[in-house]
Amino acid sequence: MTIDRNSFVPELFVQPSNIEKVKRQAISLARWDLTARQICDLELLMNGAFFPLTGFLGKEDYDNVLENLRLLNGSLWPIPITLDVSETFAQSIKLDENIALCDQEGVILATMNISDKWVPDKIHEAKKVFGTADEYHPGVDYLLNNSGKIYLGGQIRGIESPTHYDFRDRRNTPNEMRTHFAKIGWKKIIAFQTRNPLHRAHQELTFQAAKEVEANLLIHPVVGLTKPGDIDHYTRVRCYETVLKHYPTSTTSLSLLNLAMRMAGPREAIWHGLIRKNYGCTHFIVGRDHAGPGKNSNGEDFYGPYEAQELFNLYAQEIGIQMVDFKHMVYIENLAQYKQIDAVNETDKILTISGTEMRRRLREGLDIPDWFSYPEVVKELRKSHPPRTKQGFTVFFTGLSGSGKSTIANALMVKLMELGGRPVTLLDGDVVRQNLSSELGFSKEHRDINIRRIGYVASEITKNGGIALCAPIAPYETTRRSVRKEIEHYGAFVEIYVATSIEECEIRDRKGLYKLARAGKIKEFTGISDPYNVPINPEVILDTEGFEVDECAQKIILKLESMGLIKG
Ligand code: PPS
Repeated sequence: MTIDRNSFVPELFVQPSNIEKVKRQAISLARWDLTARQICDLELLMNGAFFPLTGFLGKEDYDNVLENLRLLNGSLWPIPITLDVSETFAQSIKLDENIALCDQEGVILATMNISDKWVPDKIHEAKKVFGTADEYHPGVDYLLNNSGKIYLGGQIRGIESPTHYDFRDRRNTPNEMRTHFAKIGWKKIIAFQTRNPLHRAHQELTFQAAKEVEANLLIHPVVGLTKPGDIDHYTRVRCYETVLKHYPTSTTSLSLLNLAMRMAGPREAIWHGLIRKNYGCTHFIVGRDHAGPGKNSNGEDFYGPYEAQELFNLYAQEIGIQMVDFKHMVYIENLAQYKQIDAVNETDKILTISGTEMRRRLREGLDIPDWFSYPEVVKELRKSHPPRTKQGFTVFFTGLSGSGKSTIANALMVKLMELGGRPVTLLDGDVVRQNLSSELGFSKEHRDINIRRIGYVASEITKNGGIALCAPIAPYETTRRSVRKEIEHYGAFVEIYVATSIEECEIRDRKGLYKLARAGKIKEFTGISDPYNVPINPEVILDTEGFEVDECAQKIILKLESMGLIKG
């Protein structure tokens, strides 16, 4: 199969001569600020990567995609590309109205003529597209918990592509790639999709696949949205660029795809194939567990390891790009080479390092052998994933007013500064209330805002490699849990419950607040006239009634050491 090098994929941009006019008209339209995922979708709609789509799906196309993997006109299309919006926005616009689609800075990227507006049955959508409504599936989680309640459909008139400031020379539209292939005379092109760094196994797989079909190779990684927890695309692209040096230059290209993945396994494989066809590729590699979302709530895989290949095969003729299917690649120590798992002999000694094991080795600063990955790749990964002793983390104290949180946090701060190596910031309850939250009171709503602010600052400190010590009362378990979740994206969250009893706090009454609270002069006082949820599973519980401040701080130091966060 060869590509027709003279044809271009239709794009959805308005004629250059019309752009200024459309832009001017768009200024007075109702504006929808696109989410990160919608920006990715819009870019790929406009540049033809999602051809034959001409906009966000209308209701009938959506139903057909769900039920039959097809648009109403019969074209194969497995993933619903929908514009989800809030109820408020949906109520403010009517059918046949034009709206402006804006990026996160308010730049108008396109206009859309609303042809459809409906309330989707998201559970049904989840079951059809993902085969499950289990929220452990990241695509299902996004659909049920992040996306807007109403879907809008309609044709797009593209004004401009979203701006990217990173790796600009590696970002190409389908037509740019087609032109490039034509210019360098590539007729057979095999595309490799990835959301991971390229390790030796991937490289071997791409080598073997390209050799098998005698094609040139397009390494086409996704840099839009991938699975939560994946290695960020900045690090990955630096890794790809180093691995590229190990490919023969005249046979391999690297281009970045701003796709928002759904992790829909089999359906997603077909989608990826269609996109690569639009990019002018003739072949597409589908390996083990393509676009797999990981484990479900019972700890089982959502899809079989080769289910994506099976579904792709069913539609092979129609997709118009040839699948090159690969089994799991494993390293054979005695041969010092990679093989597909089904070609392994009894005498072969297999070595493997799973993704989880690789992340553990990175975290703990352990060896990652050359047979697994090029040293330059490991070096890049180590730069952005330092071992735990060099990562940022948050120590989050919670407890009643006067329980001793600030005193212990101060002692801990001094001990951590004595150890050195990372900047330490103390976000004490009182200090935060003076500097960040001076307008807030002590209602549940205000306390939550206060804790979320502290959580946000702590997450930024953690992300940038510092140590954040937080010492608010933080009386609500749900709020503490959501702050934990936010911070754990970037580093460890160590919850310290300062378990001083209300009786003891009241006896100490260092600020005289308990007396005022008992007299009804301070309302909503934690422990007296307002709730305190005792932490369910804190990393450390401190009994301040039986121990000195220094002992308490030392107990935390020991915990941090056992968690690998500081060196003994
Ligand atoms: S919260 O719930 O986490 O937002 O509270 P926090 O910001 O940590 O509270 C800081 C200090 O405010 C004093 N204070 C009160 N605490 C509890 N309830 C009421 N109504 C109240 N009014 C004032 C109290 O001294 C808190 O300081 P600490 O350091 O905990 O004693």
